[in-house]
Amino acid sequence: MENAFQRVRDELERMGRTVGSCPFRTNYHIMPPVGWLNDPNGLCQFRGVFHAYFQYSPLNVHGGGGYWGHCVSSDLLCWEYREPVLAADTPEDRSGVYSGSALVETDRMYLFYTGNVKLPGDYDYIDAGRISTQLLVESGDGQQMSSKEKILGTEDYPADITEHVRDPKVWSEDGHYYMVLGARARRWEDGIRRDKGGILLYCSEDKKHWKLYREIVPQKAFGYMWECPDIFTLSGKKVLSFCPQGLARGEERFQNIYQSGYCLAKPGETLEEALCDSPEDTFREWDMGFDFYAPQTFEAEDGRRILIGWAGVPDTEDVHKNLSVKNGWQHCLTLPGELTLRDGKIFRTPVRELDKLPWQKGIAQENRYHWEDHAVRLFLSEIGGEKREVIIGSRKNGLIIRSEGNKTEISFLDETGKKALCGGGRGRRIGRTRGMVESLLILVDSSIAEIFVNGGESVFTTRIYLEKAERDMELCRSGKYKLEVV
Ligand code: FRU
Repeated sequence: MENAFQRVRDELERMGRTVGSCPFRTNYHIMPPVGWLNDPNGLCQFRGVFHAYFQYSPLNVHGGGGYWGHCVSSDLLCWEYREPVLAADTPEDRSGVYSGSALVETDRMYLFYTGNVKLPGDYDYIDAGRISTQLLVESGDGQQMSSKEKILGTEDYPADITEHVRDPKVWSEDGHYYMVLGARARRWEDGIRRDKGGILLYCSEDKKHWKLYREIVPQKAFGYMWECPDIFTLSGKKVLSFCPQGLARGEERFQNIYQSGYCLAKPGETLEEALCDSPEDTFREWDMGFDFYAPQTFEAEDGRRILIGWAGVPDTEDVHKNLSVKNGWQHCLTLPGELTLRDGKIFRTPVRELDKLPWQKGIAQENRYHWEDHAVRLFLSEIGGEKREVIIGSRKNGLIIRSEGNKTEISFLDETGKKALCGGGRGRRIGRTRGMVESLLILVDSSIAEIFVNGGESVFTTRIYLEKAERDMELCRSGKYKLEVV
């Protein structure tokens, strides 16, 4: 048992210096201390301190799981890394301590997660060969965990649900506890197997005994599997956030391999009613960039609903790369964003703690600004739909951010359609706002850029791998802009 955690210490000892000196390490984003990171897990504020756990593969830079990493912060921006809190070390979670969430009750923290087991053999791992168990651990300090307790297993899932059942998000409401799980439902259409993504809702009085009370699978398939569901209330409205897999790729919608977004119930409608036919028309994507998936939200002690996503997408290693791999790590999480509901849409803006950083005015010479280790914040306002272009890097090797009318585009392509090296194989992504583009907030922290259009109506997250010497920003001087560095 000790060994699972000792192995991480040894790997950190072996690789820590290489990882730490990588030019792509960020200042204000959660990264794996070594190896691979994916989904944010167990996000919460516990006795004033923010805790972020994450899917962590310290021993393999290409993933594969094994641990929940852990870090803490007092301001959501500067994170201190702690030892992992969970390892895949029991019969129920021996192939992976998968994603899950935190429930905080005064001085106890409860972490719910999925134990994954993949039996060796010739299985499809959909109907057979996989066992998904929902588990619970408790903690008084967010670091030392109680022993693992099984709370739901195969026998508790409806018969039409495959072995893909995971990612418990738990909350309390009206004196009861609720859990939402992502699922893949077994379905046939005209004799052909066509599975559908959906959610299972469970209810409990004591966090330990759970009863199924809803199975929601839309009539018309919206992907074959939904991962990482999250249900919360924003300005009195119920929101379901989830990650459907298997949607057809469009020109301006669903541009990545897997999606993440949300549905809101219409006035007088329950979430179930909103989802029963098809979420196709109501589903809005959280992010239009290349690197965003598996977000999770939590409520801060001051009542803010905060979202953190994984700045990555599964199964993309054949499509584009993260150039930090050679230095022994890959992936990071997004900046925490505060969610607000406006005109039936959720806006995401970086948490206000960002304003407290000691930003200094950036001095741009000509139309260029060079930075190396700083994080840069560029705000363009009063755009009125006019054409704007900002280049991070250079025209030959950079990311071009263009907006015109209601359209924003981020592109690593040059005029001939060749992809910039710093994009690692990424091409172009497009997003639109309801009205004209009025403002662009561009945040670049070493190897990640996050672009917030019209106060967070539309957001683009992308990794960008510029060597320090190449960290230029080409600014358009037309219109109003403010450039700051920290
Ligand atoms: C999403 C996901 C989750 C799962 C975890 C495993 O990226 O596939 O559904 O719990 O990653 O790392």
